[in-house]
Amino acid sequence: MSFLQSAADRYSVRKFNATPVEDDKLAAILEAGRIAPTACNYQPQRVKVVTGDDLAKIDESSPCRFGAPLVLLICYDNKISAKRGTIDGKELGEIDASIVTTHLMFAAHEQGLGSCWVAHFDPAKLAELFALPENIIPLALLPIGYPADDVKPAAMHTRKNTLEEMLL
Ligand SMILES: Cc1cc2nc3c(=O)[nH]c(=O)nc-3n(C[C@H](O)[C@H](O)[C@H](O)COP(=O)(O)O)c2cc1C
Repeated sequence: MSFLQSAADRYSVRKFNATPVEDDKLAAILEAGRIAPTACNYQPQRVKVVTGDDLAKIDESSPCRFGAPLVLLICYDNKISAKRGTIDGKELGEIDASIVTTHLMFAAHEQGLGSCWVAHFDPAKLAELFALPENIIPLALLPIGYPADDVKPAAMHTRKNTLEEMLL
């Protein structure tokens, strides 16, 4: 599948069945996150694989697990991440972790799995429940699994600006 085809086919899945994600598929997804580009190649991404009883911690922190049997909690380490130091000090870890999340999302799609990028979570709650150190900053949740039988793309999926609207 070409990248463009994959980008066109993928959509946010918000209803999963309980079938577990196979270990080899999870490994392929995580590998895509491991090799993602990061600023200065500092690789500040830190990913927690959440399954089983720990999914209750996700549910306490976000309404957006959608029944997925697996959730990736994507964070960055702000002690390691690059900053745009000599100009304005901008934190680049968020960008790194966003690229990593994008890699994970498309790798899941390639494995025949659905996912949904989730920013709607309480970061303080996640940090408390997963005992995250202060320097580990949650950026995204990625519920992953097999879509329920009746899942189809939401209306928002097809509502895209034209090229003219996008170009400055
Ligand atoms: C940064 C970001 C945050 C998002 N947060 C949420 C979220 O908290 N809950 C949710 O249901 N979808 C969330 N989404 C999914 C978007 O709503 C979705 O990608 C968009 O509507 C386009 O639809 P599509 O992914 O099906 O193409 C998020 C997407 C991005 C990129």
